[in-house]
Amino acid sequence: MTDSSEGPAPVLGSLPASPRPVAKRAITPRAGSAHARIMSVGACRPRQVVTNADICASIDSTDEWIRERSGIESRRMAPPDVSMIDMAAAAGLDALTRAGLPAEEIGAVLVATSTHLRPTPSAAAVVAHRMGAVPAAAMDVAAGCAGFCHAVALGGDLVKGGTARHVLVIGAEKLSVFLDPADRSTAFLFADGAGAAVIGPSDSPQIGPTVWGSDGSQADVITTRASWLQYREEAGASWPYVTMQGQSVFRWAVFAMAKVAQAALDAAGVSAADLVAFVPHQANLRIIEALGKKLGLADHVVIARDVVTAGNTSAASVPLAIDALLAEQAAGGPQVSGGLALLFGFGAGLSYAAQVVELP
Ligand SMILES: CC(C)(COP(=O)(O)OP(=O)(O)OC[C@H]1O[C@@H](n2cnc3c(N)ncnc32)[C@H](O)[C@@H]1OP(=O)(O)O)[C@@H](O)C(=O)NCCC(=O)NCCS
Repeated sequence: MTDSSEGPAPVLGSLPASPRPVAKRAITPRAGSAHARIMSVGACRPRQVVTNADICASIDSTDEWIRERSGIESRRMAPPDVSMIDMAAAAGLDALTRAGLPAEEIGAVLVATSTHLRPTPSAAAVVAHRMGAVPAAAMDVAAGCAGFCHAVALGGDLVKGGTARHVLVIGAEKLSVFLDPADRSTAFLFADGAGAAVIGPSDSPQIGPTVWGSDGSQADVITTRASWLQYREEAGASWPYVTMQGQSVFRWAVFAMAKVAQAALDAAGVSAADLVAFVPHQANLRIIEALGKKLGLADHVVIARDVVTAGNTSAASVPLAIDALLAEQAAGGPQVSGGLALLFGFGAGLSYAAQVVELP
C-alpha cells in the first residue's frame, strides 16, 4: 500500500536533458502610423427636450433645486421608437461625413455604452453594419461614463499599432430606459444622446498618453438596482434601474479625480495654461466647476458646460460636449479647433480615463 502523504514522484529528473528547439518563422509585424489624431466629431441629440418642470411631475423637487445642485436646466430624451443603436449610428454617420471619409474606410468601430439592451451581439457590430462600415471589427466598451475616453485611448493605439487605419469611436446611451422617474437622486440627472469621433493617422502627436484606471471596491456607488438574473428570478425584484450614492460620487469626482486630470496634463508634457478647452464628463456642473478650479484653469480656457441643456449622458457626454464647443465656435464663439483640450471621463466602475487631444 502506498502512503498518499508521499505525493507524486518528482518529475524534474525525467525531463529530457536538452529539449529540441521548435522550428519557427519570424512573425511579420504590421507597421502603424507614427501618431494618431481625432479627425472629426459627430453628434445625435434626441429632439425631445425634457424640462426640470417635467421631471418634477414625478419627484418631490423644484427647478431651483435641480439647477443649484446639478446646473441642469433641461435634457434630451429619446422617444420609444428611437434606440441607443439608432442614436449611435446617427452620430457615427455625422462624424464620418464631417471627416469626409467613406464608411468602408473604417477598420474598427468601438461603441462605449452602458445601455445596450442585449448581452449579444455587440451594439458595435449592428452599428457598423447600419453605417456600411463592413467588415470593420466591432466591439463595445463598458466603462460607464468614462467609456468614450477609454475608446479614444484604444482607437489611438489601434491606429498607431497598425491594427486599423481609421477607427470610429462612439459614446451612446439611452439612459431613460434605466431611470426610475420617481428616484430623486437620479431622475433629474441622466439623459439620452450619442457622440462620435473618427480617429485616423497623423504626422504629429495629436492624442496624448491616456491616464486611466478603476476601483471596483466602489462598484456599488453607481450600479443598477437588480441584476438581470435577480430581475428574472426574485419575486418583486425591480427592473435594473440605475442607482447612485450621490455624495460618494461627488467626493470621489472632486477630490480623487483632480489628480488624474493633472496626471494626464503631465503625461502629455503640457500645463493647464496650454489648453484651449477642458472637456470633462458632463456629470454635473458643480463637479465640472470644482475640477476646473482645482486644475487652476486660466480664464482663456473654455470649460465645456453642455450638461446645462444635455443632462448627464454618461459615455456620450464628452463627444457631445466637444460637438457643442465646435458649434459655439461656428456661431462666433471662442476658437477651439486646432487647440489642445483635456478630455476626462469618470464614473461607474468606478473608472476613469483622461487624455490631452488636439481638437479637430
Ligand atoms: C445628487 C446630488 C445633486 C444630491 O445632492 P446632495 O446635496 O448630495 O443631496 P442629499 O442626498 O445629501 O440630500 C440633501 C437634501 O436634499 C434633498 N433632496 C435629495 N434629492 C432631492 C431632489 N431631487 N430634489 C429636492 N431635494 C432633494 C434631500 O432630501 C435632503 O434634504 P434634507 O437636508 O432636508 O434631509 C449630489 O450628491 C451630486 O451632485 N452627486 C454627484 C452626482 C453625479 O454627478 N453623478 C454622476 C456621476 S457619473
